[in-house]
Amino acid sequence: MGESELRVPLLAANWKMNKTVGETVSFVGAFIPEVRSLLDSTRDPWPEVLICPPFTSLPALSSLLASYPVRIGAQNVYWQAKGAFTGEISPLMLKDLGCRYVIVGHSERRHIMGETGEMVARKVRAALDEGLKPVLCVGETLAEREKGEALKVNSEMTAGGLSEVKKEEVSQVVIAYEPVWAIGTGKEARPDDAAQVIGRIRETVDSLFGKGVSEDVRVLYGGSVKSTNIRSFMMCEEIDGALVGGASLDPVEFARLVFEVLRARPDRRTG
Ligand code: PGA
Repeated sequence: MGESELRVPLLAANWKMNKTVGETVSFVGAFIPEVRSLLDSTRDPWPEVLICPPFTSLPALSSLLASYPVRIGAQNVYWQAKGAFTGEISPLMLKDLGCRYVIVGHSERRHIMGETGEMVARKVRAALDEGLKPVLCVGETLAEREKGEALKVNSEMTAGGLSEVKKEEVSQVVIAYEPVWAIGTGKEARPDDAAQVIGRIRETVDSLFGKGVSEDVRVLYGGSVKSTNIRSFMMCEEIDGALVGGASLDPVEFARLVFEVLRARPDRRTG
């Protein structure tokens, strides 16, 4: 597969429902010096780094990180611009806080909050309409994998999530392949299994939008990624980065993850 200029490696943190504003301030205070000391030794610029905290920490994170090459994003969004939707947050509100990305259809939202494929597709559409890059999450359950349905399920989830996206917009979407059985369990997928699913995800994108279109779409792996295993995923050509939950909560560990992404892909970075 040819490598596109657009496929800059992305390291994304999903903090889930963790950290108060005070804890967010402490995280940044420890993370920035740590990542600087690791990267200074290589004189390399940073890879693309994204942190998705709870909504409540977005304003603090946005101002604390304003002078650093770290993007911020949200973990969820509603599809309406405004109105009587108690408890929801619109794409415009996220943009207003400096978000560039938003995670959509995380397995916890699908399985715990009951988010449907149709809701996920509407959220992807609404994010794009506001100029936010959706991080569309897909992934099979353990039962689906054991039944030999992993490729089929991920292909269907990809097609569903992209059902309202136009061909010229699809490079703005990041897809995160997160097998449900690997999330928060300490049991990461085998990199070659993840690469196989990601290959099928790209075939699905090509079948929907045209041959070669998927070469511009970044696909991440997520599920029990940590600094000691990220390199094995980054060494796979198909895998453009990682979506990290638990290991992103510790500033020293997250700084190591930034460093590992850069070490694995020194040729493709943002700066
Ligand atoms: P984990 O979570 O890294 O803690 O497994 C990943 C995710 O849910 O995005």
